This record gives sequence, C-alpha cells and structure tokens, in this order.
Amino acid sequence: MNITVFDNHEALSQAAAELVIDEIKKKPDLIVCFPTGSTPIRLYEILIEAYQKGKVDFSKVRVRSVDEYVGLSQDHPQSYAFFLSIHLLSCCNFDPKNIELINGAAQDPQAECLRYAQKLKEEGGIDLILDGIGENVHIGFNEPADQLYDHYHLESLSPWTRQVNARFFESIVDVPDQAMSVGVLDLLEAKTFLVLSSGKKKAEVWRRLSTENTLSTRFPASLLKLSQNVHCLIDQESASLMASDKVGK
Ligand code: GLP
Repeated sequence: MNITVFDNHEALSQAAAELVIDEIKKKPDLIVCFPTGSTPIRLYEILIEAYQKGKVDFSKVRVRSVDEYVGLSQDHPQSYAFFLSIHLLSCCNFDPKNIELINGAAQDPQAECLRYAQKLKEEGGIDLILDGIGENVHIGFNEPADQLYDHYHLESLSPWTRQVNARFFESIVDVPDQAMSVGVLDLLEAKTFLVLSSGKKKAEVWRRLSTENTLSTRFPASLLKLSQNVHCLIDQESASLMASDKVGK
C-alpha cells in the first residue's frame, strides 16, 4: 500500500482522474468498479469534462459494482446504481451493454452475490477499483467483524454505517440493513485499487493506519497493507493526524 498526500480534495480528484484516464488508455475495455459516496463526486465531474473535451473514451469500458444496498432496485433514488448513473454513467459515452451492476433487488440476494462473484472470476477479475473509506474503517461495505469475506457477499450493515448513510434517506428506518459488497480478496487482487479519502472526519482512520502495526478483520482498512497495488490518494485534512514517516509507504 502506498499513500500520496495532496493539498486538498480538488488536487486529489484531479490526480485520480488522470490515473483513471491513463488506465483506460492502456486498456480501453478494462473492468472498472466506481464507488459511491461524497468523495468521488468531484472526480466524476472531472471525468465528464475530460470526456466532453474528447480526452477519454468510455465506450469499451466494462463497469462493475463495488457495493449495493439489498432491496433497492436500480431505479431507486438511493440505490448505488442510480447514484452512478446520474453522477457519471449517463453523462459520458459508456455503452449500456458494458455496464453490469449487481442487482440489489434480486429475489435471492445470496444467490445474486454468488452469481456476481462467479461472473467477475470468469471475466478475469477487476482491473481498476476505486473506493472511499468509512469513518468506521470499512472498505467497500466490508464492516469490522471477527471474519471477513473473500469475494462478493452479503453484509449486515453496522448501526454506525446506517446512521452515517441515513443522511441520504428520509429517515434512518429507510436505510437498508443489508448490502452486497465486493470482498476483501477482490480488492487486494485488483490490478489497481485507488483509495480516495478527503476531510478531517477520516483523519483518525489514517492516524490508526500509520501508527498501528497489526492487521485485523476488526480494522478492514488495515488489510490494504497486504497489497502493493493499493494506492491511497488522500488530502491534507485526512492526513493531519498521520505519523509523517509513513507517508509514501
Ligand atoms: C459508503 C460506501 C463505501 C464508501 C463510503 C465513503 O459507505 N459503501 O464504499 O467508501 O461510503 O463515503 P464518503 O465518500 O461519503 O465518505
């Protein structure tokens, strides 16, 4: 895992966009998983501007899911599929036939996770995945627990995560208590994993990552240290409590 600190959210979003565009130029039909959350929204604006200026072509890019709420269909305004559609996919020349997101509304969510995991395996795994990091140190929706999962799976959302994500819903009772999520091995085996982190509310996560020398399923983000393909792009505010000698490691 390596960490690069940028002055602010704008600078890290610009750098992330350049990396995404470079990866697409190297492999126009790469498999990419785009995240939700507040952090990537500026990155998506920059990618849309680049597309409008003819600097990137998304027509062959294959889009897959990081995670999704169980029980929300792809046209539900709070579903991650809907989020990605309005913030990125519908604004560029992605080909709908190349977009295959996990189906949160599947009748049998467990079977859907297995189907999706198998599909990714047959496709050869993820080329590029981007994700944020939860204030409770989750990655994707891999919540702190006694055990974690290797591939796409069902995850029970912690009260903490439901509380934080309630800001997007009318009330906390509307927040699903389960999600489908990429697994830890999916993340570690991805050819490139870009972790984006912005703001002071994530500073404690980076303080722990830079000062604790243990890896734990109770601290899912610590497992990112297992892969050299993990590149963390974080801003000064997120880095403000970090041990300075760990930046770049
Ligand atoms: C949700 C997603 C995560 C994402 C996180 C960060 O919890 N499941 O994949 O990393 O949001 O969100 P934000 O960027 O708003 O901090």
